[in-house]
Amino acid sequence: MEKNNHQPLIVANWKMHKTLAEASGWLDELLSHDLSNKDLVIAPSFTLLNFIKDKITNTKISLAGQDCSSLSSTEGAFTGDISAMMLADVGCKYVIIGHSERRKYYQESNLVIKDKISQAHQAKLIAIVCVGENLSARENGNYKEFVWQELESGLPSTVNFENTIFAYEPIWAIGTGKTADIEQIQEMHEFLSKQLQNLFKKSLQIFEQTPKIIYGGSVNEENANKILSANYVSGLLVGGASLNANKFYQISKSI
Ligand code: PGA
Repeated sequence: MEKNNHQPLIVANWKMHKTLAEASGWLDELLSHDLSNKDLVIAPSFTLLNFIKDKITNTKISLAGQDCSSLSSTEGAFTGDISAMMLADVGCKYVIIGHSERRKYYQESNLVIKDKISQAHQAKLIAIVCVGENLSARENGNYKEFVWQELESGLPSTVNFENTIFAYEPIWAIGTGKTADIEQIQEMHEFLSKQLQNLFKKSLQIFEQTPKIIYGGSVNEENANKILSANYVSGLLVGGASLNANKFYQISKSI
C-alpha cells in the first residue's frame, strides 16, 4: 500500500491571530470561491468559533478548536479552561491536541496530551494529534524513535483511525520557512503509518484500515501540491500561510 484512499483534509491553524473583523474579511474572501468537494477545516481562536460557525453553516467547511482541557470534567471551577464538550457544543468537529507550541510554551507532557485526546473522544470530537522531532533529533538521525516515542506514549485507549488524525510537524519546519523535503516527509509518514497499523491491528477489522496522517510545517501555496501528492500524506496543517485567505484558497486547490 502506498497511496491511501482518504479524502484529503486541509486545516487552517490560525494560532493566536485575528480579530472578529479580520476573520469576517477572511471568510468573505474564501467563501467567494467554489469550495465544493473540498474538506477544509478552520481552527481559529476560541473567541471566533461561534461567529465562524454561523458563517460556514451551508458549506463543507468544518470547525476545530486549537486545544481543549485535559481535566476529566466537562465543566467546573477551572479558570481559563475550555472543555472538549464546550467545543462540540459550539459546533467543532475537530480539536488540535499536542501542538509543539503547546508542548513548548505550556510544558504539555505526553500524559496531559493523552488526557486531552481522551476528553476529545468522550465529546465525540476527532482529535488531530501533533507530533514532530526537534532539529537535534533530525540531525542525530534518531528522528523516527523521537516521534514514535512521543506519539505512542500519548495515545489513550479510546484512539482508533476514525476518531484520530495524526499530524507530523517537524518542529524545525514550523514557522521557519524550511519545509521538510518530500523524501523526509514520505519516510516519516510511511513509518508512522506502519507503526500505527501494527499497534492497532486488533481493531482494524472494525475501523478504518489506514491512519490519516497530515503534514504541517511551512506549507504554502507553492509547495502544497507536491507535499499532498507524496505517499502516505492525507492532508495538510497550515499555519502562517492560512492567515491569508487567498493563499489558503490556493493551497486548497491542491485537493
Ligand atoms: P506553519 O505552522 O505553517 O506556520 O509552519 C504550521 C503549524 O504549526 O501547524
